[in-house]
Amino acid sequence: MTLDLAAAADLTRDDIDVNAVLDHLIHTADAAAATSIGYPGAVDLDHTPVITRLAARLWNNIGDPATTGGVAHTRVLEQAVITWVADLLGMPVDDRWGYVTTGGTEGNLSALHAAYRRWPTARIYYSTAAHYSIPKIVNMLGASTVVVRAHPDGDMDYDDLAAQIRKRRRWPAIVVATAGTTMTEAVDDTTRVHAILTDYSMTGHLHVDAALSGIPLALDGQLRLDDASGISSIAISGHKFFGVPTPCGVVLIRDSARTPARQQIAYTASVDTTITGSRCGLAAALLWHAIAAHGREGHRWRASHARSIAAYAVEQIRATGWTARRWPHAFTVVLPTPPEPVRAKWLLATDGPLSHLICMPGITRGQIDALAADLAAAIQAPIPHPRTPHPTFTTAP
Ligand SMILES: Cc1ncc(COP(=O)(O)O)c(C=O)c1O
Repeated sequence: MTLDLAAAADLTRDDIDVNAVLDHLIHTADAAAATSIGYPGAVDLDHTPVITRLAARLWNNIGDPATTGGVAHTRVLEQAVITWVADLLGMPVDDRWGYVTTGGTEGNLSALHAAYRRWPTARIYYSTAAHYSIPKIVNMLGASTVVVRAHPDGDMDYDDLAAQIRKRRRWPAIVVATAGTTMTEAVDDTTRVHAILTDYSMTGHLHVDAALSGIPLALDGQLRLDDASGISSIAISGHKFFGVPTPCGVVLIRDSARTPARQQIAYTASVDTTITGSRCGLAAALLWHAIAAHGREGHRWRASHARSIAAYAVEQIRATGWTARRWPHAFTVVLPTPPEPVRAKWLLATDGPLSHLICMPGITRGQIDALAADLAAAIQAPIPHPRTPHPTFTTAP
């Protein structure tokens, strides 16, 4: 049988060979893996002990993570994950709440929903480099937005933030900072944001969208949610740094920064505090396993090794005559969009004149060498159209 995976109707034909379909999916993904370096999923951890042992049943952490009832659930592992991440971030033990989400987007939604419930007249500030989920969520909440300029390398323009806040001092401010912007992995300086909010005596909420960089920065002590930080919530993706093979994440909100839901749901015997009702217990188990099997030291090593591969990538790309840059903390290497033959082979993320690769844990020097060789060959090949000028950075990542 010839399989056409694009023909969805074919895939439910009575004579379908389900094993052939699965083999085809696996083969296609395996074939693409070596050149897929544009998106931030770590590929170095082995999650199979959890998948093979737990995949045979439904693990549903429905309702609040503190609920103890239900048939098969992994809430004790979920609580272990939340405690580990909150401790790593230095969150006060008596002022924290969180759960395992479907990803960074749900974490942002949960945190901003909590913030807006508490401050319903607030203006929500985010920068032009914020992830696309932020304007979408603000729109869902029906809140008023203020879009703040970002510098060309992705970090927030703090003078613009201050100017925008100054004009709207009579309304509370919910500010979304990003720790690891999608294109350049820039990290907004939350100390400066907090100082601006304090200078203007603003009430409100400071949220950090740390989908990519939350864990690696916290491991280095570069991101804290202690009392001095002024940060009320954080969203982190679980399939990025931990490379969990199903989309998931963690949201943490200071207990004092939310208006807890009081609605007890009789049918689930739980309080309705989470965005989704049924929640993936397998994801919580996978996150717990990734954390417990490697510990803080293991994950520190992973982050530092991945950064050294990113530094190597910058060197190798520059050695071809092309330009490349990265922030010192970053796995992401930003480069002018390479010629078409390179883009056709390598799955980079491209946004007009700029592209990036992300040296997540598991990306090897061999992959970087192969990319650099292809780039060198493409640059030397005759170029059919005039080459577009390389963009320059105005700040130094
Ligand atoms: C900065 C940032 N925030 C949020 C998200 C969304 O995370 P998820 O894909 O886990 O929903 C991403 C994903 O790339 C991101 O880069």
